[in-house]
Amino acid sequence: MKLSLIPVGIVLGLWSALINAVSYDNAFNVNKELIHYNYYKFSHSNSFEVIDSSNIIGYNLLNQFININVTSGDINWLIQDTTEFNQFVIIGSNVYLYSDFSHTINIVELKTGILIRSIEVIQPITKVINFFNKGLLVVQSDGTLHFINDRRQSQIHLDYSIKSEFVYQQLNGFMYIITYNGHLIKLNSNYQIVNQFDLSANKLSQFKDFILITDSNQIYKLVESGETFDVKSISSSFQNVKIISPTYFYNTESNNKVNIYTIKNNKLESVWDNEFKGSEITNVELTPFALSDYLIVTKANGSKQVFDLTDLLIIDDPYSIKEIKVKSDLLSIPGTVDFIISSSDDIPHLITINDALDGAIYDINDGSLVQTIVHSTSQFLPIDASTVSLIVDKPSSKQAINQVNHLLNEGTNIILWNWVKRTYRHLGELGKYFTSFVSSSSTPTGSEDDIGDLEDDFGFVKYVIFYDQISKALLAINSKNGEVEWKSYTKDIPQKLLQINGNIIVVSNDSVLELDPLDGIVLSTKPITGGKEVIKVQAGEEESYIVETEQSFESISSYTQDIYLFKSNEDKIEGHKLIKGSTKSIATWNFIPQQDETIITAIAKDVESSTVSVGIPLANKSILYKYLNPNVIAVVTKSHDQVLKIYLIDGITGNLLSVFEHTNNEIIDFTSINIIIDDNWVIYTYFIKSPRLEQRINVIDLFDSNKSIKKSGNDLISSFTHNSTINSYSKKSFAFPERIINLSSTKSEYGITLKSILVLTESGYLMEIPKYILNSRRIDNRPLVPDDYISDFKVSPYEPIINLNTLAILNHKHKLILNQNEKGTILIKPTHFESTSVLCYLNKFNYYCGLVQPSKSFDTLGHGFERVKLLGTIVALFAVYIVTKPFVSKKRLNDQWLYS
Ligand SMILES: *[C@@H]1O[C@H](CO)[C@@H](O)[C@H](O)[C@H]1NC(C)=O
Ligand SMILES: *[C@@H]1O[C@H](CO)[C@@H](O)[C@H](O)[C@H]1NC(C)=O
Ligand SMILES: *[C@@H]1O[C@H](CO)[C@@H](O)[C@H](O)[C@H]1NC(C)=O
Ligand SMILES: *[C@@H]1O[C@H](CO)[C@@H](O)[C@H](O)[C@H]1NC(C)=O
Ligand SMILES: *[C@@H]1O[C@H](CO)[C@@H](O)[C@H](O)[C@H]1NC(C)=O
Ligand SMILES: *[C@@H]1O[C@H](CO)[C@@H](O)[C@H](O)[C@H]1NC(C)=O
Ligand SMILES: *[C@@H]1O[C@H](CO)[C@@H](O)[C@H](O)[C@H]1NC(C)=O
Repeated sequence: MKLSLIPVGIVLGLWSALINAVSYDNAFNVNKELIHYNYYKFSHSNSFEVIDSSNIIGYNLLNQFININVTSGDINWLIQDTTEFNQFVIIGSNVYLYSDFSHTINIVELKTGILIRSIEVIQPITKVINFFNKGLLVVQSDGTLHFINDRRQSQIHLDYSIKSEFVYQQLNGFMYIITYNGHLIKLNSNYQIVNQFDLSANKLSQFKDFILITDSNQIYKLVESGETFDVKSISSSFQNVKIISPTYFYNTESNNKVNIYTIKNNKLESVWDNEFKGSEITNVELTPFALSDYLIVTKANGSKQVFDLTDLLIIDDPYSIKEIKVKSDLLSIPGTVDFIISSSDDIPHLITINDALDGAIYDINDGSLVQTIVHSTSQFLPIDASTVSLIVDKPSSKQAINQVNHLLNEGTNIILWNWVKRTYRHLGELGKYFTSFVSSSSTPTGSEDDIGDLEDDFGFVKYVIFYDQISKALLAINSKNGEVEWKSYTKDIPQKLLQINGNIIVVSNDSVLELDPLDGIVLSTKPITGGKEVIKVQAGEEESYIVETEQSFESISSYTQDIYLFKSNEDKIEGHKLIKGSTKSIATWNFIPQQDETIITAIAKDVESSTVSVGIPLANKSILYKYLNPNVIAVVTKSHDQVLKIYLIDGITGNLLSVFEHTNNEIIDFTSINIIIDDNWVIYTYFIKSPRLEQRINVIDLFDSNKSIKKSGNDLISSFTHNSTINSYSKKSFAFPERIINLSSTKSEYGITLKSILVLTESGYLMEIPKYILNSRRIDNRPLVPDDYISDFKVSPYEPIINLNTLAILNHKHKLILNQNEKGTILIKPTHFESTSVLCYLNKFNYYCGLVQPSKSFDTLGHGFERVKLLGTIVALFAVYIVTKPFVSKKRLNDQWLYS
């Protein structure tokens, strides 16, 4: 009996291990990446146009020209930095972007946003007209007329210049333009002049279907007979009348009545009117669509009525006007604009939408609501993402916390009950596993709920916290599904976010708030006075924040060990010490660079970064110890003659550890410098402007030769209390194919995983460069020998240029949007899998989260993991065990006979 219980236990144990082994694909779902592009809102209500329910295009407040899917709110495409344009015209399958008084017209494809052609005109553009959907007629500031499309650009030679305002109509294949002073120009559809004529007309405001309306509301008819034109008066001054057709007109009367007129006996006569009770009319608009004409009436409270004039224009019967009441109780949205579009089944739809993409779609036949559109809520605008942002582990739910407390508080008599519960849970998981196992053959990813709990357990879900300028609140966004987990309204705009003892610290100009990461509820508020900056200080287990004042650092509570800090400005670095038990620091050392140098930046090691390897074992069995002083400060300076210098200083003593000086052969763009210091290395990047444009990455690896000399000592990690200098280092310079905007390095839970360097490039890619590529010990003066492979991890001959194929692009599917002012921030937080960290990027334009695995996934199961084979093997081994067991025990018995 006992015989088979043990293997059964083993098999069950293995099974439950299998259940818990999270497959990498499952753990972060099918979408291992999350991207959210922001569009904020259109510049104003005239800056966008709806083409159909999948395409709304226009200029937004982020200086982009965008095409958004109205139904889903997703961005179809966007063009960055369109500050030079503010107008557009849709012509056929292209969009022409231009602006008044600019010299450039860009033609992009409507479907893809791809630039087809950029056209320069000599004189500034004053007006453009869509010419029979073939191209643009462009009036330039000198009064010349040009035809421009994606293939052609030609001037139309006129007898008169079109210097001031003009009106035009396009009818029966001809275009008629009448200038302010009565010159008429008739063009055919090949933009050739057919006729030019001098009319004696007053200043015109409307021209449609051969009807002319002057600025003073007089109505005329234009009569064309052969080569000559004539104007005939129809009616004398008539208030604010607008043209529907050659025979029908409309106007609005005292904000609550709409009239339709026709011409009788050379006079306008009302044939239809509609009085609107209650709310005032704010807008009446004639919108032609296909072969129909609709009059859309908008009232002050946002309700809309649509009148279908199609039959009136055909059968001349005012009673044929159809009134469509749209279900308007949803429409208290301000600033909406109306468009009529054709739906997929060719029913005309009325879409009424505002600049923030809130609105509704109605069926125009019966006014029924097809869909409400609410996209403004999905938009957010992080304020200064580089300081006011934070990534934290998803907090445990209140329920889980209660459970833990409950268990701790219960006595021992509960143990059996817990055992039952745990067994029950495990059996449940077993069942769940089998069902997911069965279903996974048809749907390889399994269902989301099954793995939801597991993900939480393994720390794949993080919250990204930032201040949103639209809702004026702190938001916590789930890194896996992009959902807003909580919103916390703060009185002041935060200047900085920190995480201390699990809680979120919100630093604003005069106060410090402490928030619960679970729900954003304010736990405490403390005033700060005279503080320049608030920084997080971690000393062993103790964590708290320290306020940097003009002279010193002040902590809110005292520490049980000495804390070393530094201040820096352009001229000097000042070391401070906060002696244990005290709350105010004292200045200890000063570092002043040479006279002509200014300090560009000074950084210290990230306390959250950990390393377990203290040295590199060499082929000759000695160890090359890393210089792992946790208090190193790297200082970058620029001298008068533009020379870059890196100083390494000991943060405790202020001693100069080493200096790395560049020569002045290269002209460096000092605004492009990024530097990180981690493990035993310093990596900095800079762009050089001369002798050629090039992005450089420099690597300095620091070693502790003193330690290596007296390697017999049992103090493995030096305490760095002595005044050491760095006397052993190696450095190399690399060229990188793209301009680097920001730099970071990966972190993992225990620091076992290899480090990778993350670079954010100008073109919007986050790339991972393994540290073994950026290795200063790569050999450049001789061929590699077998010992070299033993002495360093993945060593390769030195190549000055980093090839793109050695890099991993983390966001290969989703390019990030950034520019000079919106460089954004890279946020990294390890998961509970040593191999994997969550990586997020955030700025005004977009928000991205994904995973980074510098040593690939050594502790998670890949998609190709063969559970069936493993299970089969276990079962087979078990069978063999059962079968051989009697033989083995018999053999043992025999052995005992033999030896006893
Ligand atoms: C727009 O979004 C809707 C709903 O998500 C989708 O059905 C449609 O295919 C999208 N249109 C385009 C052009 O992608
Ligand atoms: C607007 O006012 C009209 C009456 O003029 C009323 O029928 C309609 O329900 C109101 N709509 C809204 C959204 O309040
Ligand atoms: C906070 O202080 C900074 C500089 O001290 C200042 O630029 C900023 O306007 C202040 N913000 C608020 C909200 O008072
Ligand atoms: C081992 O090799 C390194 C260089 O590869 C050298 O610096 C060191 O002195 C050697 N150690 C011994 C014990 O030979
Ligand atoms: C090694 O460290 C000692 C102090 O522990 C120091 O006196 C000595 O100069 C150091 N040697 C080198 C080569 O840095
Ligand atoms: C380090 O050097 C400073 C002066 O540079 C000296 O005051 C201090 O005592 C030295 N510390 C040790 C441990 O040698
Ligand atoms: C790079 O990113 C860090 C942290 O994300 C940020 O503090 C820093 O300002 C960024 N640097 C640049 C040049 O944007």
